[in-house]
Amino acid sequence: MMRTVKGRVLASLALLAAGCLAALAAPPQNPGAADMQLEGGASGKVPFPHLQHQLALADCNLCHVKFPQVPGAIEALKAEGKLAKKEVMNSLCTKCHKEKRQAGEKGGPTTCTTCHVKG
Ligand code: HEC
Ligand code: HEC
Ligand code: HEC
Repeated sequence: MMRTVKGRVLASLALLAAGCLAALAAPPQNPGAADMQLEGGASGKVPFPHLQHQLALADCNLCHVKFPQVPGAIEALKAEGKLAKKEVMNSLCTKCHKEKRQAGEKGGPTTCTTCHVKG
């Protein structure tokens, strides 16, 4: 009798430990929307293929070092004065696209009206 109870306790502990290990190995990560429209001020909105970037770039923090993984984070930080206007555009988007092109790799648009759409 004692043996089976102990056995069951041990078995549940083992299951619990396995569950914790699985959680550590693969933390659930919200990938966010596949496609977005970013605010681009007077120049017009900026369509942004988020999923395409996640597939092309291995590291989320290439971008999310500047702003958290929260919808509207860029505009909120700009409004609080914690992120300069055009900083994401200049130090992330355009910078990376230019570097890729210079390296002979496929990048993204680098001129105003290929990113910003009026309407
Ligand atoms: C090339 C830049 C870039 C990369 C790389 C990137 N993101 Fe994002 N992400 C953005 C931008 C831009 C936004 C929109 C922020 C805003 O709305 O102000 C965003 C928003 C988000 C959001 C909140 C929006 C939503 O739909 O819920 C989540 C969650 C997110 N990203 C997760 C990720 C994860 C996870 C990765 C890596 C697998 C990743 N991102 C990689 C640029 C990027
Ligand atoms: C690779 C895409 C891309 C290109 C190229 C680009 N922009 Fe942007 N632009 C953005 C994004 C994304 C934002 C919003 C984030 C930010 O402010 O950094 C933005 C923001 C802006 C803003 C609003 C700033 C504010 O908060 O009031 C203006 C104005 C602007 N861009 C003008 C331009 C002009 C002019 C050019 C060409 C010289 C240009 N952009 C080229 C992506 C781009
Ligand atoms: C660290 C590098 C990097 C950053 C940062 C980055 N991009 Fe890109 N972008 C790429 C690469 C690489 C591609 C080509 C992806 C492909 O071909 O699958 C691309 C492609 C694009 C395209 C063209 C998609 C198509 O094929 O039609 C757009 C639009 C774009 N990026 C917008 C943005 C905007 C807006 C930002 C800033 C919020 C941004 N990117 C930030 C690397 C970057």
